[in-house]
Amino acid sequence: MISKKLEDAINSQINKEFYSAYFYLGMSAYCTSLDLDGFANFFHVQYQEETFHAMKFYNFLLERGGNVVLAKIDTPPADFKSPLDVFVKTLEHEQFVTASINNVLDLAIKENDHATASFLKWYVDEQVEEEATVTKLVNKLKLIGDNVGGLFIIDNELKARVFNPPAKGE
Ligand code: FEO
Repeated sequence: MISKKLEDAINSQINKEFYSAYFYLGMSAYCTSLDLDGFANFFHVQYQEETFHAMKFYNFLLERGGNVVLAKIDTPPADFKSPLDVFVKTLEHEQFVTASINNVLDLAIKENDHATASFLKWYVDEQVEEEATVTKLVNKLKLIGDNVGGLFIIDNELKARVFNPPAKGE
């Protein structure tokens, strides 16, 4: 059975993951409005990944005998200046999520809840990957600056991204 404190922390994390899904869905819509279909695809896949992250927490909490309490999802930003701005905001958001996951892990360690600590390791690794991917894209977009040709090359690359839900245990 999971502690009340950890149950609250995981419920809060479920909300943050669903907010992330909403956040990226809005970015996908913005990119579609610019006819940047690859960028829109990237964020649509990100939206699917975040929904997966939320549901993974949801299933874990139920498995541990906790109560899932769904809270209101905040309105995500809708004003973006450019594709670079979207990726800078994405990086800031992922850094925020990483800090939040680390806090939940700190709590699990403090409470000697090994099952939760082990479960959270997947998210710790996932955050490293997400921050690395987004940092690379921020850097590439800074490099190309106002070069429209470069923007279309990146847009083309981002069309290839697909959502692959990890198998159980991965
Ligand atoms: Fe669920 Fe992008 O962290």
